[in-house]
Amino acid sequence: MEYDVRDLKLAPKGKLRMEWAGRFMPVLESLKKRFSKEKPFQGIKISACLHVTSETANLMEALKLGGAQVRLTASNPLSTQDDIAATLVEDYGVPVFAIKGEDNDSYYTHIHQALEHRPHLSLDDGADLVCTLHSERKELLGHLIGGTEETTTGVIRLRSMAQEKVLHYPIIAVNDAKTKYLFDNRYGTGQSTIDGILRATNILLAGLNVVVAGYGWCGRGVAMRAKGAGAKVIICEVDPLRALEAVMDGFQVMPLKKAAPIGDVFITVSGDKNVITKNHFSRMKDGAIIANAGHFNVEIDIPALKELSQNQREIREFVTEYTLKEGKRVHLLAEGRLINLSSAEGHPAMVMDMSFANQAMSAMHLSSEGKKLRKEVYPVPKKIDEEIAFMKLRTMGVKIDKLTPEQRKYLSGWKEGT
Ligand code: ADE
Repeated sequence: MEYDVRDLKLAPKGKLRMEWAGRFMPVLESLKKRFSKEKPFQGIKISACLHVTSETANLMEALKLGGAQVRLTASNPLSTQDDIAATLVEDYGVPVFAIKGEDNDSYYTHIHQALEHRPHLSLDDGADLVCTLHSERKELLGHLIGGTEETTTGVIRLRSMAQEKVLHYPIIAVNDAKTKYLFDNRYGTGQSTIDGILRATNILLAGLNVVVAGYGWCGRGVAMRAKGAGAKVIICEVDPLRALEAVMDGFQVMPLKKAAPIGDVFITVSGDKNVITKNHFSRMKDGAIIANAGHFNVEIDIPALKELSQNQREIREFVTEYTLKEGKRVHLLAEGRLINLSSAEGHPAMVMDMSFANQAMSAMHLSSEGKKLRKEVYPVPKKIDEEIAFMKLRTMGVKIDKLTPEQRKYLSGWKEGT
């Protein structure tokens, strides 16, 4: 079997971590049982470009149990858990192409290797796999019947492809399912971003000024958790509605330029490029800490930071200290890459359970229906979203009420009023 991972000797540790994560993924567990019986992916080849984590490993196992032939590559050069990559190869027979800390060349070589088996389905997180297929591997496009996309940034790229009519096969935007973004983006990113910053720095958040750039679902989660840890949170936004929500959620809202000299910790979660730039670095306090929780490492203008600096050194793992020309120190975490997956373990399994149940069920939907769909970006079918919410509630032991026939009729009519 072809593969490229750091060290197969790490497999026993990865196997235990995968089992531990699996315990918090009961919805995926029930899909594993269903897939084992029904084999919905018999004869289907899947290329997945996802963060190689213990949660992703459980998704790979589910797809394999369903009869799929799977290949996995990383969706970020710093997010791979090498022990998980090893156990997937050694114990589950999944060809994995991913090494934590790989350079850009290796990252793209691995994407190409994950495509070598000519997939029918693509599972992506950030759309690097789909973009590689559409630019450098066009000869493979004819085999594809569908794909899924995990994250906001990827969905934006794919919508742009669909709008320009260059998308060659249908993609389901897993990110936009309610059982995904309301939980993974908010509670997952919220907790794991704080976790990543704390593991990298070991700072005390209580009493610090934490500046969060971006108040989408991820930004809301980060702000909420930073506040919960005792930080004074400032939100920077460009969207007036989101800014207004942040104000009414009790946060201070101001332009980044004004927040720059106030902040102790800066976290970008905007999905856009060059959010923190030269103008901001030079206004920051000595000792400021900067981290990114958005998908790509473009939110912080690192070349500008380098230009402003006389010196840089690795002061702790995942912490680069830049000394600016005037002597002030600014600390960049994890080279500006996703902090939650670089210095921590990504979102907890309990939320990835729903995200990956959406991935698995969307992949199943595409394997049967993909050929009938147009070359567009589709939402996760509402039925799947609702089924996952019900399944998750059931596994949590939570029961809810049902509408009576009278209430159902009332909600669908217009004649009853004052
Ligand atoms: N994205 C964020 N957290 C993740 C995790 N734990 N596994 C896979 N993808 C993720």
